[in-house]
Amino acid sequence: MKGIVFTEFFEMVERRSGYKTVDQLIQEVPHSHNGVYTAIGNYPHEELVAFVIHYCRLTSTPIEQVLREFGHHMLGVFSSAYPQFFDRCPDVLSFLESVDSYIHLEVLKLYPDAQLPRFDTRRIGLESIEMTHRSDRGMSALAYGLIEQAMHHYGQIGQIETTDHPEHTVFRISLNA
Ligand code: HEM
Repeated sequence: MKGIVFTEFFEMVERRSGYKTVDQLIQEVPHSHNGVYTAIGNYPHEELVAFVIHYCRLTSTPIEQVLREFGHHMLGVFSSAYPQFFDRCPDVLSFLESVDSYIHLEVLKLYPDAQLPRFDTRRIGLESIEMTHRSDRGMSALAYGLIEQAMHHYGQIGQIETTDHPEHTVFRISLNA
């Protein structure tokens, strides 16, 4: 998993709970090196999961909620770092359609070692799409948070329905008329 995911997770923890909690996580969660993560490095996904689980324990917060909030945070990071990915799409549905077919492909050009999820996206109505999310690493609650914050970014209001399957998760995103 790319280091940016770790550094931004610590950033969110610091904002939510203070830097002492970040220090506590780095001290109490076993990890493979000295706790220094660089944005472009690559680190085991299991380490991120261990940090998330421990943070949830420390703050008595459900994992789903922390991952969703992390999705909100990451979308903000992406919109500042890569405004061109947002500017080329006039609305949230076309933006979400471009995640698999364009954005993550561009990410792979920049970071060939990135491990990205797959999204099969199809229109199911004038103002609704279905996104099928597949990842060896789970993380569908993170995807939910990213989708939710993308709607917010475009100022569009609607509903996200989620159906979990053993191997994938289906998101139905419907905008209000
Ligand atoms: C400008 C927008 C975006 C950029 C630049 C971007 C980039 C990235 C990067 C760099 C990673 C980390 C890959 C790794 O750790 O190896 C990632 C992971 C991920 N992205 Fe995106 N992404 C964007 C938008 C989105 C959106 C809108 C969604 C949801 C619909 C999404 C879903 C995910 C998920 C679920 C992961 C976790 C990877 C996994 O463990 O399977 N991304 N993305």
